[in-house]
Amino acid sequence: GPRQAVTRKQKSSFRLTLVQMSFYRNVVWFIKGMREYTRAGYESASKHFVAKDLDVSVVGLSFMITGANSGIGKETALAIAKKGGTVHLVCRNKERAEAAREEIARKSGNAEIYIHLLDLSETRKVWEFAEAFKKEYSSLNVLINNAGSMVNQRQLTSDGLEKNFATNALGVYVLTKCLIPLMERSRDPRVVTVSSGGMLVKKLDTADLQTERVVFDGTMVYAQNKRQQVVMTEVLAKAHPKIHFSAMHPGWVDTPAVATAMPQFHQLMQPRLRTPEQGADTVVWLALTHAATANASGLFFQDRRAVSAHLPLAWTHSSQQEVQDFMAQLETLAMSVRPSVSSVDT
Ligand SMILES: NC(=O)c1ccc[n+]([C@@H]2O[C@H](COP(=O)([O-])OP(=O)(O)OC[C@H]3O[C@@H](n4cnc5c(N)ncnc54)[C@H](OP(=O)(O)O)[C@@H]3O)[C@@H](O)[C@H]2O)c1
Repeated sequence: GPRQAVTRKQKSSFRLTLVQMSFYRNVVWFIKGMREYTRAGYESASKHFVAKDLDVSVVGLSFMITGANSGIGKETALAIAKKGGTVHLVCRNKERAEAAREEIARKSGNAEIYIHLLDLSETRKVWEFAEAFKKEYSSLNVLINNAGSMVNQRQLTSDGLEKNFATNALGVYVLTKCLIPLMERSRDPRVVTVSSGGMLVKKLDTADLQTERVVFDGTMVYAQNKRQQVVMTEVLAKAHPKIHFSAMHPGWVDTPAVATAMPQFHQLMQPRLRTPEQGADTVVWLALTHAATANASGLFFQDRRAVSAHLPLAWTHSSQQEVQDFMAQLETLAMSVRPSVSSVDT
């Protein structure tokens, strides 16, 4: 009847609005990116950097960096090693990890560089690794969640989880949560999560964390995961006031991840992409400086400045209910693959 017709009309106009909104967000994001996320964007932002911020020594402090064998993670590890920090490289591939350790030790002259082999998409293993680390080490000052994944086909991990979600969201959650007690006992503790400006096009979506219900688009799943990291950072910051949390965007950086996962974007943008060192700058700044912790905990950074985690008029804010729902789902998934206490304790 007429009522159904109205509903159908409303539904299709609602869908049209969603498409328009998504188009709007992508256009605004791309224009912003061309101005700010490029190498030129870095060069212009860096004019306002305070050089003496990085006049610090972190001898005696320890730093864990995931995905530290390549790109932004490797440059971050090198910069921290040069400042005297003890560095724990968390990588999934032994050869690549050893090559990175050798390079970082040689360039920095710092011998306190350690390798830990872990695939962050294997959530059960993330638990085991973090529990073992807590037993072995008496402190951890800074955790840098840098490893990131953009797999363009829907793949499942051995725990039955969608692989990008497992790596970018659940792996980060489990590693961070499990290490929090150790960090709370350590001096000046911080958690820095390398998110992405790509998350600006996404609102938190709690209905389909495993991407079972829509056509799989790796770029969109990645952007959703990066939004999830920002939300997680805000929540953990409130829950754990002893630790300084931040999420950040490194800009558009020329790394293997971009070349492999987004070959067209890489080819088109290559002359404009930042170097990995430029991409690592704000990660290093957040991990090392007093200027960084002068900011509130839980914020989103770009080029050493706290910036909005939302595009103007983009409707990407999530409700309290959605945030709670998301965190509850993470916790449930995390606990469902947690090794039994006895196997963790022995
Ligand atoms: N490049 C950009 O333009 C850009 C923009 C925004 C955000 N980001 C973020 O920056 C971070 C670093 O990426 P990158 O651009 O520097 O790329 P990259 O050079 O390819 O580094 C990615 C690192 O993550 C590791 N990794 C991926 N999946 C893993 C897993 N399951 N377990 C353990 N390690 C894993 C990789 O290990 P393998 O070497 O073994 O693959 C590699 O060490 C990512 O979180 C990415 O999302 C990058």
